[in-house]
Amino acid sequence: MVAASSSSSLIILFCFLFTLLFISEAVVPPSETFRYVNEGFFGDSEETSIEYDPVNYRTLPPFTAPFALCFYNTTPNAYTLALRMGIRPDRSLRRWVWEANRGHPVRENATFSFRSDGNLVLADADGRIVWQTNTANKGVVGFALLPNGNMVLRDAAGGFVWQSFDSPTDTLLYGQSLRVGGPNKLVSRASVTENVDGDYSFVLEPKRLALYYKKTMLYWSSTFPEVNKASGGLVNATLEIAEAEYSDGNYNSLRCRFANSSAEPTVLLGTNRYNSTFSYLRLGIDGNLRLYGYRRGANAAAWNLLYTWFNREWRNSLEGIEDECQLPDRCGKFGLCEDSQCVGCPTPKGVFAWSKDCVAKSPGCQASGFRYYEVKGVDHFTVKYSAGTGPVKREDCESKCTKDCKCLGYFYHTDRSRCWIAYELKTLTRVENSTHIAYIKTPRSKANRKSKAEEKAGAKQTSEPYRDEEGFVYFNVPILHHKPIIDLGYIHGCFLGGYVCFSIGIRGKASVNYRIDVGSLVCVRVASVWLFPDAKWAKWVESGLQVEKGDILCSKDCKCMGYFYHTDPSRCWIAYNLKMLTRVGNSTNLANMN
Ligand SMILES: *[C@@H]1O[C@H](CO)[C@@H](O)[C@H](O)[C@H]1NC(C)=O
Ligand SMILES: *[C@@H]1O[C@H](CO)[C@@H](O)[C@H](O)[C@H]1NC(C)=O
Ligand SMILES: *[C@@H]1O[C@H](CO)[C@@H](O)[C@H](O)[C@H]1NC(C)=O
Ligand SMILES: *[C@@H]1O[C@H](CO)[C@@H](O)[C@H](O)[C@H]1NC(C)=O
Ligand SMILES: *[C@@H]1O[C@H](CO)[C@@H](O)[C@H](O)[C@H]1NC(C)=O
Ligand SMILES: *[C@@H]1O[C@H](CO)[C@@H](O)[C@H](O)[C@H]1NC(C)=O
Repeated sequence: MVAASSSSSLIILFCFLFTLLFISEAVVPPSETFRYVNEGFFGDSEETSIEYDPVNYRTLPPFTAPFALCFYNTTPNAYTLALRMGIRPDRSLRRWVWEANRGHPVRENATFSFRSDGNLVLADADGRIVWQTNTANKGVVGFALLPNGNMVLRDAAGGFVWQSFDSPTDTLLYGQSLRVGGPNKLVSRASVTENVDGDYSFVLEPKRLALYYKKTMLYWSSTFPEVNKASGGLVNATLEIAEAEYSDGNYNSLRCRFANSSAEPTVLLGTNRYNSTFSYLRLGIDGNLRLYGYRRGANAAAWNLLYTWFNREWRNSLEGIEDECQLPDRCGKFGLCEDSQCVGCPTPKGVFAWSKDCVAKSPGCQASGFRYYEVKGVDHFTVKYSAGTGPVKREDCESKCTKDCKCLGYFYHTDRSRCWIAYELKTLTRVENSTHIAYIKTPRSKANRKSKAEEKAGAKQTSEPYRDEEGFVYFNVPILHHKPIIDLGYIHGCFLGGYVCFSIGIRGKASVNYRIDVGSLVCVRVASVWLFPDAKWAKWVESGLQVEKGDILCSKDCKCMGYFYHTDPSRCWIAYNLKMLTRVGNSTNLANMN
């Protein structure tokens, strides 16, 4: 009896111990588990603005200032579980710095739960699991939202079994890393309203940091000299503070580390202001990288944009900063970019003023159905950071593009005989070097053939300026290379064949009611000297007037105030109104041009 009893108590004891063991290894104490349902009251999104302007959002209990876990949506009933940064008393924009389920929204009554087996699960209203940490029975005992914005699942020893820092979306918080062989990239958001992956990615590779458009088209990469010296590759890149000699000169930085080298190539991201442990780096919808700093307790001004990767102003003051023209989408589907501004729409008939409607017509696949037109002095956004192929003959480069249905054009450097095939055109950058040439495919059509015939007929044939539906007039001439002598920012003036000419670049917002192709020349009679009371001008007046056809026409016409003349081919338009020229000629009043 005694023996039997002791053996049964032994079994009971064993079961008890086993259970204890089990609990200590894999069971989350009931007080630590949670289950939140996406239902009930919405936060007051009227009171302070929230990034992406959500239709509504709900705040969940996990909160460690300034971070809060929320459900938010930008289209009704399609929610994202996300981490919000910024608190109500800031009276500043609150931003989303981490997301669980981009591209896989959940509905009302979805649940976010931390289960007793240690798994963290986001399930839709019907119970379907949308996102999870896959940490069931892995020794997780607790959940925490840390003060740096890292959400963690801890084991009994305090180690992180899972952390949200290992699943970045488009944002790196201070202290967060990209890792080769781990979470190695940020992916942009498609648009303010569409929370799905966009076209841009920022990737840590063993030899460099790289920015890609549509996964393969490189538009920026680092050139760390340390990489060639180190035996192994880069292993991680962390958003940190780089200490300068003087503490108030500290820099925000993205610091890269090697496996086998103590070298730490670093991208500096502007000086450190306030408490930078609350900075974050974001790959934006537009493919640009920006560093934002957050200052606690600042009334209505918590955020500061501290650094922009592609930036016109900062380019001059900081080394390595690129112009916005290097951003693939800077000029939309197709456009010519200069000094961060969209300045032209290259067409088979010449370069017109840029607008959002500027596109390259789809050329189709049949080689007989398209031809190429040339744009001199431009580069594609992929040219700067990729070697292209070569040396190859231009004909071979062209033939490669012709045979490839998806090729929309090719870019060729005549001085080094290098070739780049383009599957997307997007933004072309104006470069000084006229040896850099773009060849863009365009469909052959009746109209094309006709205009070719016209070309052959020669310059004698009169051709009206092109007028669009809105009544804007376009002057269609190839870009003439000329030496600017008057530079008013938007206008370059020069003396050409006896005329004073202005090439007018319509840039950004500074559009006028009268559109003239970028690069086309507007020439005015001497009578208009008052436009530019300038010493050089006066000197030119003395040198005399070379009379040409347009001048005679204008001279005979009392109402003519000047004329537009294109030397190549010789074409003339009489102008009865020089109002536009008067306005743009006023260097002090450029802002009034809108
Ligand atoms: C959410 O669940 C509650 C309770 O089960 C139910 O009354 C409500 O209709 C549900 N909401 C939606 C939008 O399905
Ligand atoms: C570091 O160096 C060691 C010895 O040279 C080598 O075996 C190892 O693969 C290197 N590690 C990496 C990540 O390159
Ligand atoms: C980055 O890599 C280095 C070298 O392997 C390592 O010492 C460091 O802990 C890593 N940092 C992070 C944040 O992963
Ligand atoms: C910055 O903020 C962190 C987190 O709140 C805090 O621990 C640290 O003391 C602050 N540093 C300074 C210099 O204010
Ligand atoms: C054009 O670029 C090549 C290198 O690509 C360079 O050698 C040459 O000097 C440049 N020419 C001008 C006029 O800038
Ligand atoms: C052009 O500038 C002058 C002074 O520089 C000013 O008096 C004049 O009103 C301006 N004209 C226009 C059209 O803005």
